[in-house]
This record gives sequence, structure tokens and C-alpha cells, in this order.
Amino acid sequence: QCNVKVAVAGASGGIGQPLSLLLKQNPLVTELSLYDIVNTPGVAADLSHINSPAKVKAYNGAEALKEAFSCAEVIIIPAGVPRKPGMTRDDLFNTNASIVRDLAVAAAEVAPKALIGIISNPVNSTVPIASEVFIKAGNYDPKRIFGVTTLDVVRANTFIAEAKNLDPIKTNVPVIGGHAGITIIPLISQATPKVSFPADQLKALTERIQEAGTEVVKAKAGTGSATLSMAFAGARFAISLIRGLRGESNVIECAYVRSDVTEAKYFSTPILLGPNGVEKNLGLGPLSDFEKELVKAAVPELKKNIEKGEKFVKG
Ligand code: APR
Repeated sequence: QCNVKVAVAGASGGIGQPLSLLLKQNPLVTELSLYDIVNTPGVAADLSHINSPAKVKAYNGAEALKEAFSCAEVIIIPAGVPRKPGMTRDDLFNTNASIVRDLAVAAAEVAPKALIGIISNPVNSTVPIASEVFIKAGNYDPKRIFGVTTLDVVRANTFIAEAKNLDPIKTNVPVIGGHAGITIIPLISQATPKVSFPADQLKALTERIQEAGTEVVKAKAGTGSATLSMAFAGARFAISLIRGLRGESNVIECAYVRSDVTEAKYFSTPILLGPNGVEKNLGLGPLSDFEKELVKAAVPELKKNIEKGEKFVKG
């Protein structure tokens, strides 16, 4: 029976639990399917007592995976291991690549029409992995698979608002490219409201946004990476997917998608979301010279990350 609306894979984790909480309290979510290899009965029982409309169901262990995903309209994937100090997101590849591959195999089989948001790092490579799985299964729709880069936008909004004393809720800074280090490209020249900075401050802010994840990894001193802010960003993105699904107009989020905007096969840009996922790729917009250089530096790095992901599935 088709009654699952949003599935979270990795629902018992540091991101998965607060993400599930935020989805549970949003009235747009009618069903919440919580999948993990451990602890989902407890998380689901706990959340199910909240008096919001979403029905919460637990799916625990690999044998429950297909049932968890079947008929899902939106699948959000924060499953996998997080970073420790000194690790890059790419260092997670060996563990997380196979986790995302296996989840994508199940999604391709039982929920080929779902919109999929991937949080598991390295996102630059895990999105190509999921895409290759769907290609292999013969039902790839590039409009339906997204790398969730919303946290980069959330961070850019916060840091720029702080620097200029703006209302952080009304500040919007598009962030394009990928989701690691120099592939993260904040477009401060396109910020609303319009802001300007001296060159050295612009560079420092850009670098802070690029390395913001590492700030959290260091502060957590070996216990993991961003979970609460990532859950906030993941929930915002999931809700935007649902709003697009429901035909709301003008739902725009930056996301890492299959793209022909640059030479990198996957690239994050602002995306107009609709009932089928990507309604329109809104492209790069007008870039400053500084931002053009950032894109130039990011593309070769992204290409490497993308090839690594593709090779993992294709062999
Ligand atoms: N299927 C489903 N869930 C899994 C699987 C799997 N094959 N393997 C691990 N998990 C679950 C774990 O049981 C755990 O509940 O994923 C969850 C991960 O939670 P944490 O270890 O707390 O990690 P978290 O901080 O949430 O980060 C998860 O998101 O941002 C990325 O880089 C981060 O890749 C990492 C992921």
C-alpha cells in the first residue's frame, strides 16, 4: 500500500534524529518512514507522541529497507559515518560510498519516482554514485536526485548577516559548486540584500564559508560533524521538495544536481523546484571576477570527485 510520504535513511543518527523531529513537526508531512540499521523503534515511538499530523513508522535493519522506501515521495539520506578532526569529507568515501549505493539500489527498485536528497558525505561523490545506480537500473531521472548543499547557504546567510548587521532570516546568499572545501562557492555578489566588502574581507568570508564544516568538527573534538545545523538545512530542503511537489510556485533552493552549466557533470546552482523535482536550473547568474576564479578552481576538483563516485559503481 502506498502510504509513505517522506522516508529518512539514517534516522537514528546525529543528523537523522533532529531532522526527523523537524519533519514530524511540519504539517506538510503526512507520513514519516524512519529507516536505520539500529534504534528506529525508539526514535519512532518517541516522535509519534508529538501531536502533529504525520504518522511515524519505524523500519529497522536491512531487511526492512524496501518496505521503508516503498512509495516514498521524498527520501532523505543522512546515513553513514561522520568526520573526525583531521579528516576531509573525501576520507569518508570508503564507508559511505557503499551505504549510499545500497540505499540507492533499494530506492531505484521500490521508489523510482521519489525525489532523493543526499546528505551523506562526500556529497560531491555520493550523488554520482546514486545516479549511476539508477542508470544501471534503467530508471534514472536526473531531475530527481539532489545533493543537499542547503547548509552552505544557511551558513553563508548567517555569516554575511553577522558581518553587516542584517536580519539573518531575510539574508540570502546563493552558494554554488559542490559541498567540500574549494568546491563550495558562495556568490556574495548576488546576495540579497546587496552587500559589498573590501577584497581581503571578501576572501576571508568566502574561506570561512568553505571551511565552516571543519569549524564544527574541531569544536566537537572527535565526536562528529555538524548535526543540528545540518538537520535544520536538510529539513528546509525536504520541505522545499514537498512544496515543489505540491505545485507551489517559486520554490527555489541551491542543490547539487546533474548539470551542464559548467564542465563538471554535477554542479550546485539555484534550482526552481516543481512536481517532478528540477523544474528549471537557474544557472550561475552574473559572476564577479573573484567568483569566476573560484569556479575555475572548483571544476577540476569536482570532476575528480565525480569520477571517483561513478567509478565506484561502474568499476
Ligand atoms: N543504512 C541506514 N543507516 C545507516 C547505515 C545503513 N547502511 N549505516 C549507518 N547508518 C546509520 C547509523 O546507524 C547512524 O544512525 O547512519 C546514522 C549516522 O549517524 P551518525 O553516525 O550520528 O552520523 P551523522 O553525524 O548523522 O552524519 C551522517 O551525514 O553530513 C553527513 O558527513 C556526514 O556522512 C555523514 C552523515
